[in-house]
Amino acid sequence: MNYSVKKKHPFNISLKVPPDKSISHRALIIGSLSKKEIFIENLLESKDILSTVKILRKLGKKIEKKKNFWVIKKGDFSEPDDVLDAGNSGTTARLILGVLSHLPFFSVITGDNSLRKRPMERVIRPLSLMGGEFLAREGKFLPIVIKGKKLNPIHYKLPIPSAQVKSAIILASLSVPEVSIIEEEIPSRDHTERMIEYMGGDIERKGKSIFVSGKKNLESRNFYIPGDISSAAFFITLSSLIKGSSIIVEDVGLNPTRIDFLEILKKMGVKVKIDSKKQKWEPTGNVEVKYGKLSPIFIKRKNIPSIIDEIPLIALLATQANGESKILGAEELRVKESDRIHNTVENLKLMGANIEELSDGMVIKGPTKLKGNKVNSEGDHRMAMMLSIAGSVADGETLVENAECVNISFPQFFKILERI
Ligand code: S3P
Repeated sequence: MNYSVKKKHPFNISLKVPPDKSISHRALIIGSLSKKEIFIENLLESKDILSTVKILRKLGKKIEKKKNFWVIKKGDFSEPDDVLDAGNSGTTARLILGVLSHLPFFSVITGDNSLRKRPMERVIRPLSLMGGEFLAREGKFLPIVIKGKKLNPIHYKLPIPSAQVKSAIILASLSVPEVSIIEEEIPSRDHTERMIEYMGGDIERKGKSIFVSGKKNLESRNFYIPGDISSAAFFITLSSLIKGSSIIVEDVGLNPTRIDFLEILKKMGVKVKIDSKKQKWEPTGNVEVKYGKLSPIFIKRKNIPSIIDEIPLIALLATQANGESKILGAEELRVKESDRIHNTVENLKLMGANIEELSDGMVIKGPTKLKGNKVNSEGDHRMAMMLSIAGSVADGETLVENAECVNISFPQFFKILERI
């Protein structure tokens, strides 16, 4: 599907965004590790999350959708009689690998064209050190065959900051009674740690280290999934770019490891008001954003993990800032659903941006007037949405090719965009 978009007028809206993708995956996967029934309210119903549901069902879990919540029934995992398909979802593949590493049976996991190109050795390596047994295509790609094993504890320093890798090791460590230690130099999103703690599991963070064991059972909890700040970021960007616009996003997740995008907007000159409610599990609240005249920004390696999914939007904002912006230390973007450094640079260039590709990031000189053109998401949901936002501030018409992939994380994206 191709999506055609034209320049938007100033707008003032209040909206809710779909439930958080990272937390939805974890509620399903970690919820399945509990021996008790789990209720999930406001689960994201997008393609990636349905990949997780389908895999857990193939692994013997009874997961049912009731009126406005989902239930994970009591019951053990069992050997799947077919290949597990993670679709486009890196989070599904990597977190499930952590679980499969210790389940006492044989399984095979694969994914779509994009996921089969993404690196998996970052997960297989630590899990193998724990005693896990894997056979991967070329030693590093899906499909991967897993022979579940009794694992040993690990003390592991993450070579790259990645919440998916950290979570896979944590989930494997929950099968081991002894304590495992995972060290991360730059903190990545901590939804896994928060959820395990909330469910009564044995997990603790001290400085840069996470201590985790399977000593305590995970208790039943009712989860309410807040809105996804990374989905909200698209419309927040749009209101930051159009003079006279403002937006209020209600009931959105405000986990401190996820909101640096809002801090960067403030630094760039956008007016941001965060109204966070105190909560025992994941902080949530409202965010209000108003257009402001944009200044350039300098993003360094240590900033990257906390804004990893918002970087294409920061590049777009930088095209409208007065001066030179730099994004460095972001080579992880090359192994996302697409090569997001290359795709961002090439597509924004087609729209008239002054943007240059670096091996680990980009340099953007602004402000430049964006012009509508034919651009391509390469099947990457966040690229399709960023380009549709770019098209909403560009002169003329923008045609975003391969736009149906928004269903991966944000099925209502175009409907909301059309409301504006
Ligand atoms: C995610 C972690 C991030 C992020 C992805 C979701 C998660 O990946 O890009 O969209 O839910 O753990 P990495 O932390 O592996 O970079």
